[in-house]
Amino acid sequence: MKPYVICHMLGSVDGRIKQDIWGFDDHHKYFEETAAKIDADAWLVGRVTMQEFSGKKVLDFGDSRNDGPREDFVADQPARVFAAVIDPSGKCVWDTNMVSTEHVIEVLTEKVPDAYLEHLRDRNVSYIFGGKEELDLHLVLEKLYQLFHIKTVRIDGGGHVNGSFLKAGLIDEFSLVLAPVADGTIGAPTVFEAEEGYGDRKATRFKLKSFEPVFDDFLWIRYSVVR
Ligand SMILES: NC(=O)c1ccc[n+]([C@@H]2O[C@H](COP(=O)([O-])OP(=O)(O)OC[C@H]3O[C@@H](n4cnc5c(N)ncnc54)[C@H](OP(=O)(O)O)[C@@H]3O)[C@@H](O)[C@H]2O)c1
Repeated sequence: MKPYVICHMLGSVDGRIKQDIWGFDDHHKYFEETAAKIDADAWLVGRVTMQEFSGKKVLDFGDSRNDGPREDFVADQPARVFAAVIDPSGKCVWDTNMVSTEHVIEVLTEKVPDAYLEHLRDRNVSYIFGGKEELDLHLVLEKLYQLFHIKTVRIDGGGHVNGSFLKAGLIDEFSLVLAPVADGTIGAPTVFEAEEGYGDRKATRFKLKSFEPVFDDFLWIRYSVVR
C-alpha cells in the first residue's frame, strides 16, 4: 500500500517556481493558503526546499565509516502530521524534530555517514532508507504508509523532487496555483524538472478536476493524472 500523492505548486505562466522577481507583497500566502485546503497527513519536499526550513548551523559529519546499522528509525513523538524531506546524502541539519506542527522524516540512502544518523537520533528526527545508493521512490512511499500511516501525501516541490515523482509515475493529482506573472528567467527551476532533453519518455497528461479564481488574478487549477 502507498499514499495518494497530490503535487501542489505555485507557478508563473511560464512554469517557473522561484518567486525572487515576481514582486508580490505577501508571497507565502498564495502557496500556503491553498495548500492548507488540501487534506493530507504529510507534506514532502526536496532537500533544497527543506533547507529553507531546517537548521542553519553547518555541522561536519565527516566521512565516518558506514558500518553502523541501516535501520529505519521511527521517533517516539506525539505529532500525527509529518514533514518529509528527500535528502539522499543527509545534508539537512536539525535543531528540532519539527517544522511548525509537523514531525520531520528524513528520507535517506544508505550512503549517509553514521555520524549523521547519530545527529538525527539525537534530535529525535525520524528517518527511513529508500535505497542503497539511489532512492526507490515506490519503496519510500510504501514506508511512509506502513511506518507512519500516511494515507495522503502532498508533494510541495521543488521542481526536481516533483520531476522525480512524475517520472516514476507516482503522482495522482496536480494542484497548480497559477500566478499572473511571466518570469522568463532562463535556467530557473520549473514545476517539473524530470529529465534533460528529449528521450523516450512521454509527457504526463492531466484531466481537469476543478478551477477557481483565487486572490487577485490568480487561478487555482486541480488536475488528476491520466494513466
Ligand atoms: N513556487 C513553489 O510552489 C515552490 C515550492 C517549493 C519550492 N520552491 C522553490 O524551488 C526551489 C528549489 O527547487 P529545486 O528543484 O532546485 O530543488 P528541490 O526539488 O527542493 O530539491 C532537490 C534536491 O532533492 C534531492 N532529490 C530530489 N529528488 C531526488 C531523487 N529522486 N533522488 C535523489 N535525490 C533527490 C536532491 O538532493 P541532493 O542535492 O542533496 O542530492 C536534489 O538536489 C527553491 O528556490 C524553492 O524556493 C517553489
